This record gives sequence, C-alpha cells and structure tokens, in this order.
Amino acid sequence: MTARALMAEFDDIAGWTAEAVERLGAAYAIPAACRGSANPAALAWLAEACELSAGTRLLDVGAGMGGPAAWVAARFGARPVLLEPMPGAGRAAARLFGLPVVTADGARIPLRTASVDAAWCLGVLDVLRDKAAVLREIHRVLRPGAPLGLLVVVAQGPQLLPCPEGNHFPTRRALAELVVRAGFAAAEQIDQPDVPPLSWKRRADRVAAVVASRHRTDRAHVLAAGQAERFSRLFDAGQVAIRLLHAVRREAPAAGGMDGPDRGLA
Ligand SMILES: C[S@@+](CC[C@H](N)C(=O)[O-])C[C@H]1O[C@@H](n2cnc3c(N)ncnc32)[C@H](O)[C@@H]1O
Repeated sequence: MTARALMAEFDDIAGWTAEAVERLGAAYAIPAACRGSANPAALAWLAEACELSAGTRLLDVGAGMGGPAAWVAARFGARPVLLEPMPGAGRAAARLFGLPVVTADGARIPLRTASVDAAWCLGVLDVLRDKAAVLREIHRVLRPGAPLGLLVVVAQGPQLLPCPEGNHFPTRRALAELVVRAGFAAAEQIDQPDVPPLSWKRRADRVAAVVASRHRTDRAHVLAAGQAERFSRLFDAGQVAIRLLHAVRREAPAAGGMDGPDRGLA
C-alpha cells in the first residue's frame, strides 16, 4: 500500500509545486521537480553511464513530477516517457514540462516487450516492498543490451533511527543482487557525486517556501514535512546513503546470485 506521506508528496504537494513554479518562473521547474534526491552531477553520471543521446527513448519509471526526465531531455536530447502511478504527480509533470505521462504501476508497465531503448528508476526502489517485481517488468520492456540507471537510498547498516514511513532501504549488496536476479548485468555502482550547486538548491528551496507559505497547515504538508525531517536525520547520522547504479539488460535472467566479479558493488 502507498504510504500516506508519499501520497501527500506526490498528489497534493505535486499540484501546489506546479502552481508555485508557475508563479516563480520556468527556471525553478527542474530543481523543484527532482524529488528523488538526484542532483545535476548524479543525473549527468547516469546519463553518461547509460550513453543517452538525442532521440533515445527513455522510460522513467516512478518519474514523479518529471524533474529528472525534463533535465535529460534538455541536456541530452533524450525522449522521455514518464511512468507514474500517482495522478497528481503525473499531472504536475505534464503541466510543467509537457512530457508524455503514462499513469501506471511499475510492476505492470503497459508497454510492449523489448520496446524501450533505456530506463531510469530514481528514488523509487527504496519506497517499494516488492522491488523485484518492478525490476523484472523494466527488464521485460527494455531491448536486450539496453541500459538501466538507478538512484537508490541504501541502508548503511542496521538502522537505529525511525525509518520514514513507506521506505524499505536495501543494502548495497542486496541492491546489486536484486538487479542481477532481475536479469541485468550490474556494470557499476557509486555514491551520489557532489552536492547540488547553491543556485539549484536555492531554486528548489524557494519553491518549497512558496508552497509552505500557502499550505503549511494542510495535512498533506505536515505529513511530508515530517517525512523530510526523518530523512534528514537518517542522512545526518550516516545511516543511509544515495547510490547510483548502471546496469545492462541481459537476454535472460541470471540463474542465481552475482554474475562475474563483484566490481564495486558491495
Ligand atoms: C521519491 S519519488 C521520486 C520521483 C522521481 N523519480 C524523482 O527522482 O524526482 C518516488 C516515486 O515513486 C513512485 N512510485 C511509488 N510506487 C511505485 C510503483 N509501484 N511503481 C512506479 N512508481 C512508484 C511515487 O509515486 C513517486 O513518484
């Protein structure tokens, strides 16, 4: 079941964010609509690792409000298709960026087998109990040899602080194993590079401030703010970290376990 805080952020708050961006200007849209913690350095790493270029048909699974997809369309000329189960987030993405949005669950992607050039799934696996189902479905719709880019919040060890509602953080090793079992060769995994430039953070913060000024006492805002605070505490305490992973779709799922040397995956 979708957690209440996640529903709040990707339904009500998505619409409020789109309104705030429309007030402030288009330059605010991408930083405000990157909700999976991706920064420009992370997006560039993923785009280069996946060798995205002009015209690449990229499926963004759990695309949220579309910030990462809009970034890669603007910077690399990729042609993203957004898949997002929360109607509010999908509407915000269409409104802010005019990108095509499919409203669906990542475990049931309404696209043909082997029809997609590349896929991203950013900040999504850590909110899913059944991560394997979504990875298997991404594997089905990708062409053989196609790249997958993941951004995942991972557990750094046993978690002592309260876990934000609806989050199920895998360890680095569990993440790599899930990817391999779903039929991918895991090529590379790194910690998210750098912090965003101040100007990026300033724009995201400004939009958040406009939303807060109008909706601070709304239930959805209170829920999402509590969630954000729990996340900050986990990051500050070093209990979670953000990992980027590049993998390639194999012909058939692996027979079991890791395939080949565990290069940088633990
Ligand atoms: C933290 S947000 C990340 C959004 C976006 N990828 C980004 O980086 O800005 C997590 C997203 O996963 C979506 N999500 C949750 N369950 C999902 C599922 N079963 N299939 C696909 N997406 C899902 C949520 O609706 C939300 O948009």
